[in-house]
Amino acid sequence: MTFDFPYLYLPETDSTNIQAMEVLSKTNPPNGFLVITDYQTAGKGQYGRTWQSEAGKNLLFSLICQPSPISLATVFRLHLACSLALIDVLEPLSIPDLSIKWPNDLYAGTNKLGGILIQNIWKGTQLQWTVIGIGINVDQEQFPPGLNATSIRLETGDAPDRLALASRIRQQLMSFLSISEESDWRHLQERYQVHLFGIGRHLLFRNRSGLVFRALLEGVNPEGLLCLCLEDNRREQYGFGEIEWLPDPRSIVPGMESNHPF
Ligand code: BTN
Repeated sequence: MTFDFPYLYLPETDSTNIQAMEVLSKTNPPNGFLVITDYQTAGKGQYGRTWQSEAGKNLLFSLICQPSPISLATVFRLHLACSLALIDVLEPLSIPDLSIKWPNDLYAGTNKLGGILIQNIWKGTQLQWTVIGIGINVDQEQFPPGLNATSIRLETGDAPDRLALASRIRQQLMSFLSISEESDWRHLQERYQVHLFGIGRHLLFRNRSGLVFRALLEGVNPEGLLCLCLEDNRREQYGFGEIEWLPDPRSIVPGMESNHPF
């Protein structure tokens, strides 16, 4: 395996995010250093979940990056950059209904195609380093039942070269993460909404107290909060982990949301 940028290839590892954090703690890697593997024995997902992926079939890597200044107040920009880098690189592959499910899951229709796990190192309120772990299902054709997962192969009948894909995603990410103009970030924010899964639709959610409610998904604000308009026209905003999507996206029939049995 060869790339024309600094990287560490591990045929098998626990998790590229774990290894990238290790690289950061023990060495002084250059901005844009990539840790990539063919198989993870302890792949990490968001909210403490696991990420499972068949050996040798998918894209599994973590990018070590020192972005342009990002503070606690603007940290959602990392999610904008990652989500849109994936959209921009994957869009030419003609994957049907490619979208971003807030905050940064990649969907094809109602099935999950990829995920992003961001781990940050802060110096006070300023971001010092970020490790961006990306998993994309490329050539896997079978998934455990109930996972509502899909792959590029299943969606298009073809599987692109994984290394070329990794290289393009890295390049697009590095370019977005060097943005310094406010107007460029605003542009990414607008583009994020265009690709947002479920925007303008009435969906079901469950809040932290277990209350299930229907609301119109109006968008995501620059702080990364999900903006909902409830049935009584009250507006509410939710942060990561404060709200759960219901029903599971696999059971939404586009255009038939209001007929869903929940
Ligand atoms: C999610 O959707 O929950 C995020 C999944 C992120 C998975 C990737 S695979 C490469 C990198 N290493 C990990 O352990 N996790 C991320």
